[in-house]
Amino acid sequence: MSNLLPDSAPGFDQPIAVLKHCHDRIRKQLATLEKLLPHLASHGADEEARQAARAVMKYFDQAAPLHHEDEEQNLVPMLRSSASGADADLLAELLPGILDEHRQMDGMWQDLHEQLAAIADGSAAVLREHDVQRFAAMYRAHMEREEGHIAPMAKRLFSADQMATLGQAMQQRRGITPSAAPAAPAASTGDAVASLRKDYGQASLSENDVAGDPFVQFTTWFEEALKAQVNEPNAMSVATVDEQGRPTSRIVLIKQFDPRGFTWYTNYNSQKGRQLAANPHAALLFFWTELERQIRIEGRVERTSAEESDKYFHSRPLKSRLAAIASAQSEPIANRDALEQNYDAVAKQYGEEPPRPENWGGFRLVPERIEFWQGRRSRFHDRIVYTLQSDGSWARERLQP
Ligand SMILES: Cc1cc2nc3c(=O)[nH]c(=O)nc-3n(C[C@H](O)[C@H](O)[C@H](O)COP(=O)(O)O)c2cc1C
Repeated sequence: MSNLLPDSAPGFDQPIAVLKHCHDRIRKQLATLEKLLPHLASHGADEEARQAARAVMKYFDQAAPLHHEDEEQNLVPMLRSSASGADADLLAELLPGILDEHRQMDGMWQDLHEQLAAIADGSAAVLREHDVQRFAAMYRAHMEREEGHIAPMAKRLFSADQMATLGQAMQQRRGITPSAAPAAPAASTGDAVASLRKDYGQASLSENDVAGDPFVQFTTWFEEALKAQVNEPNAMSVATVDEQGRPTSRIVLIKQFDPRGFTWYTNYNSQKGRQLAANPHAALLFFWTELERQIRIEGRVERTSAEESDKYFHSRPLKSRLAAIASAQSEPIANRDALEQNYDAVAKQYGEEPPRPENWGGFRLVPERIEFWQGRRSRFHDRIVYTLQSDGSWARERLQP
């Protein structure tokens, strides 16, 4: 039921596109909710169902209310003050119903929340089909009406300044400090890549207001990334080198971070696993475009303990566990069919309780250097780097952009 593939989020300098993006995420959550119904009937509140319930709850508890506030407190008042003639008539006809539906959907959500909370903690496996269908149907019709009438009207009527004001209000609601000046225009779709130019100006980073400990600073930024609903905040690039020192990089998902380091899970026999066995030095990179932030982390990589790897492996959905066994990651295979056949054979062999293969587990990068980068106007960015000292403390300095 889960979907790891990233979707691309527009910036707050395009607030109507951000609202549409929120709708797309709502549609995804509704689809998950609908898939939960047959899943619960056949599997009960298993780990996959619990994860799905938690994801849906997180979205409708946290993100959806912010979206409704964007519309009620900013978009609708701005439309009311800008519209005249036929536009004002259409608003008078549509808005009472739209606002009333927000109230109705909030009420329906409370009922669903209770049912999902019990599924998420494994104490029940009951989700009422009627409640799901009513909620999904009202949301879908509601979003269609907004996308068909409200969004096009806003695009037509709002000036660039009004768009910037709307985007800034939406950013502020999510705890992101907007710049004093209006947001930079969206990157142009010019002919040459070199002509793509986006100025950064959401926030600043000073050596005086970062934490003394880079893990504390990382935690602060990670929490801000979650709050800002950054797309795939836990996706990071991992760069390793081969025996000749030639680098290669790929994206993985960070699953844990604490003062011991930054952990992800993978196949130890994969290309990255083999390279790390020969040379344990690696570099991680997070880029949170919505916050104009980059974090670079360098250090030595070690394997997590077998107990930690077991614990994480057994928390994964069954299909992911079977896929981890079936895939000799990074090795060539003749075609997709052969891959599926390997999966089927593994599923048949192990059933519901596959064991963690010895060649699958966690890597933890123990950092020696962590740099926090905040985009600033005119490429005059802020960079604060922490370097591990021989006594275990961290030195901190500013680098030129
Ligand atoms: C968003 C995203 C998340 C990914 N997460 C992981 C992960 O957590 N672990 C993993 O082994 N591969 C993950 N991958 C796949 C890796 O990028 C890569 O294809 C795979 O690990 C094989 O890399 P290698 O041949 O260099 O070892 C992810 C890819 C993407 C795009």
